[in-house]
Amino acid sequence: MFPIHRLRRLRKNETIRKMVRETTISPEDFIYPLFVTCGKRVKKEISSMPGCFQESVDKIVKSAKEVYSLGIPSIILFGIPEHKDKMGSSAYDEHGVVQNAIRTIKDTLPELYVITDVCLCEYTSHGHCGVIKDGTVQNDPTLELLSKEAVSHAQAGADMVAPSDMMDGRVEAIRRALDEEGFHETPIMSYAAKYASAFYSPFREAAESTPQFGDRRSYQMDPANRREALREITLDIEEGADIIMVKPALAYLDVISDAKDAFDVPIAAYNVSGEYSLVKAAGKLGWIDEQRVMIEILTSIKRAGADLILTYFAKDAAKLLNK
Ligand code: PBG
Repeated sequence: MFPIHRLRRLRKNETIRKMVRETTISPEDFIYPLFVTCGKRVKKEISSMPGCFQESVDKIVKSAKEVYSLGIPSIILFGIPEHKDKMGSSAYDEHGVVQNAIRTIKDTLPELYVITDVCLCEYTSHGHCGVIKDGTVQNDPTLELLSKEAVSHAQAGADMVAPSDMMDGRVEAIRRALDEEGFHETPIMSYAAKYASAFYSPFREAAESTPQFGDRRSYQMDPANRREALREITLDIEEGADIIMVKPALAYLDVISDAKDAFDVPIAAYNVSGEYSLVKAAGKLGWIDEQRVMIEILTSIKRAGADLILTYFAKDAAKLLNK
């Protein structure tokens, strides 16, 4: 009771504030997304995501080295293929961009933990995450293709696969396919509670994966639903997911917090492209202090319960945190 309790005593200076700080972030918490494209010596900045690039394999190896040297243990790879078709066949091509990138990165930097995004939208001509029939995305026929994609990533040397398509039953299908090919030890991080979010639009420029008709609301979750996220996560864990993800992060801190309370698997959160671009744009205009806002956002995602954060800020934040 006042004046016995004065909470300001423990806020007096940075030393004591640090001593009682409940949440700290470190480069080890981060997973950095990289976009790999075909060709050689390509490094093209994504206009809506300053500081992020589409890079050919030769360039991406350099980027991967930089990431690792900053103390960030892991990357997640997205591919922009040369060729797109109805079935997304480049996604499970042994010589696809992602498969080539994995092999080259693991050759030069075996310690870097390489995760791959498993989805068809970057590889299909229609830009949807699954096979289309009669104008709708088909669930079960898609599972087979996703399984082939996951296996081909594992064969190329991926340390972990991360399905982001939101088809029902895909974790089980992928687990089975990996096990059949001898990849019992390859973990699955599922994008378990992935919402149909407007925050993905800069990514779609980056990955050239905008749906050519309709939207993703028939497979990704309705942003209004909180309890449904727990059902999605429960099912993915039952199907064999090793890590579950909530995506986006910042507008879904309640979902991250619920997931942390309800489950004992590691929780990842994806601080998505739109969340990054908003901060970068306002920072550029001088409307906010970009660095402080970045650290505050990443801290809030961890405070909500994320053990791992996929973020385009990983390098910027690591540089600050390493100082
Ligand atoms: C692929 C995928 C998307 C993102 C990650 N994997 C796009 C989408 O679902 O439309 C978004 C990532 C971001 O916005 O940073 N399905």
